[in-house]
Order: sequence, then structure tokens, then C-alpha cells
Amino acid sequence: MFFDPRLSRSGQIACASCHNPELGWTDNLTRSFGHDRQTGKRNSMTILNSAYATSLFWDGRAKSLEDQAQFPIGDPLEMNEKLTIAVDKIAKIKGYKPLFEAAFGDKKVSLERIQYAIATFERSINSPKSKFDQFISGKSDIYTDQQVKGLHLFRTKAQCINCHNTPYFSDNEFHNDGQTLFGTKNEDFGRYNVTKDVKDIGKFRTPTLREVVNTKPWMHHGHFPTLLDVVELYNLGNPSPVQKKYLGTARDSLIPKVDPALKKLNLNKEEISDLLAFIETLSTPTRRIMTPEMPK
Ligand code: HEC
Ligand code: HEC
Repeated sequence: MFFDPRLSRSGQIACASCHNPELGWTDNLTRSFGHDRQTGKRNSMTILNSAYATSLFWDGRAKSLEDQAQFPIGDPLEMNEKLTIAVDKIAKIKGYKPLFEAAFGDKKVSLERIQYAIATFERSINSPKSKFDQFISGKSDIYTDQQVKGLHLFRTKAQCINCHNTPYFSDNEFHNDGQTLFGTKNEDFGRYNVTKDVKDIGKFRTPTLREVVNTKPWMHHGHFPTLLDVVELYNLGNPSPVQKKYLGTARDSLIPKVDPALKKLNLNKEEISDLLAFIETLSTPTRRIMTPEMPK
């Protein structure tokens, strides 16, 4: 069903349209396009290793992969289909009946079962061992000196590990990286849209850095075309210019505050290259996978 466009109103858009296995399970676009080629609001996330996320989406608005799976089907900018109609369409396809029976014990097709099946599939999409995993499990000679120095910086001077930690390389928490684009047409308050708590303005879920080389462009808005741009932003301490014109206006209390953990790093050119060389070791070559034949 992840590859089945019949879940969409047009019959043309599948989950895999924006989470393409050959593109690191994303679409490599700044922002995705969906129904009627409308542009969505955010950059598509990889589903690789999403089993390790404790909430889903850049703003964490979905509680589980099961919960998440219903959002894109109903989203008018994505698959734009009524959930009840999507379920009816799948239920009418004869070829699915034996598959549902094998998976669930009987042929009944329900939204819950569709969500469960898609989420269970997604949990099986995990990275193979990266160069980093091999290094950590004892193959110390697999790293170049530059990559060892990069790992060291990641944990020390560059402070990345404060948020990009655990084997998932994300703390699964929300932080303001200075990317709200406050006062522009692409302004996005992130987590605040979910909680309505002013402390959450501009916070986004820390994305995993596994496979990050394959998921360009970067950040929730996709405005960063290279990883060098991202590291240079952190090096500057993530300045986020807020036009003074908002001070003292009705929007005053909404002015986003960058996470206090983010400070100027003073990394030199060589250190920046070392850090990038390390980050590359968290990704694996993208693999071609056979798209399954759709049940008829
Ligand atoms: C039109 C493009 C598009 C389609 C179609 C689409 N997605 Fe997404 N997906 C996105 C975008 C964009 C995001 C990030 C959206 C956000 O954070 O608001 C996302 C986020 C996700 C995430 C969150 C990953 C994480 O780490 O939090 C999962 C899981 C996911 N999609 C699965 C699916 C499934 C399952 C389907 C099909 C039912 C699907 N997507 C269809 C574009 C798409
Ligand atoms: C205070 C927590 C925090 C620290 C420290 C931090 N990050 Fe992040 N990082 C985030 C958050 C949150 C985002 C998502 C921001 C957004 O999209 O608006 C992010 C996004 C990224 C992305 C883009 C990933 C993607 O899929 O688009 C990269 C790459 C990245 N960080 C690398 C680093 C590096 C390298 C360092 C150290 C120099 C670092 N981060 C330090 C929280 C942090």
C-alpha cells in the first residue's frame, strides 16, 4: 500500500511518490508536490529508521507511525482523499483480499488495518550498517584520520551531540534552530502549531543524521542545498534576524527564540571539513528496490 497510488483521489500519488527509495526515501525537493501538483508546506522526511522516532513529522503532531499514515491520505495538498473512500477503494480490490487474510486472519479491510500495515512496513525500512557502525563495533581502521577528528568535534567543540544523540542521532526533542522564517511568507512556527505554547515557537523535532547525505535539501523548509551551508549556520551560532519592526507590536510575544544551547562555535575551515567527513559516515549507499506489483 505504501506504493499504491489508489489511496489518493487522483489515483496517481502514492506514499512512495514523496518517499522514493531511490532518493533516500524522500523526494529531494525543497518542498514536496502533491495533488494537482500543488506545493506542500515542508520538506519531505525520510522514512528510513522512522521506527526510532517517538513522534512523527517535523512538529511531532503524529503520535505513532500508525497515527501518521492517515495524515497524507487526507491532506488536500498531498493525496487529497477522504479516508472512508480510500478504505472503500482498497476493499474493492480483489487482489488485496488474500493479503489482508494472511496478515490479519480475515479479509476485512479497515482504516485501522491499512494504518497498521503501512506502519509495520515502514518499521522494516532501516539502514544497513554504516561506516560509523562498523567503526564503533571495533573496526577502527575503517575511519580516516579526518573522520576520527570529525567524530571528536561532533562530541566536543561542535556540540552537535547535545541534540543529535543516541544511535538514532536525534534526541527526539524539539528545539529552535533559528529556522522559523519569521515575518516571511514561509513562516513556520513548528511545534507551536501543535501545542499553542509560546515556548514552542519555532521548535522542530531534531531530525536523525543517519542517511542525511541522501536526503537533500535540508531543514524543515529545505532551504539548505548543501551540508556545508548547514554546518556554517551552526558555526555562526544560528543567528535568526528578527526585523525590529515587530518589537512592541502585537507579534512581539511571538518572536521566536533560538535554543540557548546554540552558540558561535569558532570552527576553522579544516574543522568544518572534518565534521562533514564524519557526518558522511552515517549514511549508506542508496539501494535500488523492486517496486512491488500492485494487487488487481
Ligand atoms: C505529497 C508528498 C507526500 C506524500 C504523498 C506522502 N508524504 Fe510523508 N511526508 C511528506 C512531508 C512533506 C513530510 C513532512 C511533513 C511535516 O512535517 O509537516 C512527510 C513526513 C512523513 C513521515 C514522518 C517521518 C518522521 O521522521 O517524522 C512519515 C512516516 C511519512 N511521511 C509517511 C508517509 C506515508 C505512509 C504516506 C502515504 C500514506 C506518505 N508519507 C505520503 C510528504 C509526503
Ligand atoms: C539544540 C539542538 C541542536 C544542536 C546542538 C544541533 N542540532 Fe542539528 N538540528 C536540530 C534541529 C531541531 C533541526 C531541525 C531544524 C529545522 O528544520 O528547522 C536540526 C537540523 C539539522 C540538519 C538537517 C537535517 C535534515 O534532515 O534536514 C543537519 C544536517 C544538522 N542539524 C546537523 C547538525 C550539526 C552538524 C550540528 C553540530 C554542529 C548540529 N546539527 C547541532 C537540533 C540541533
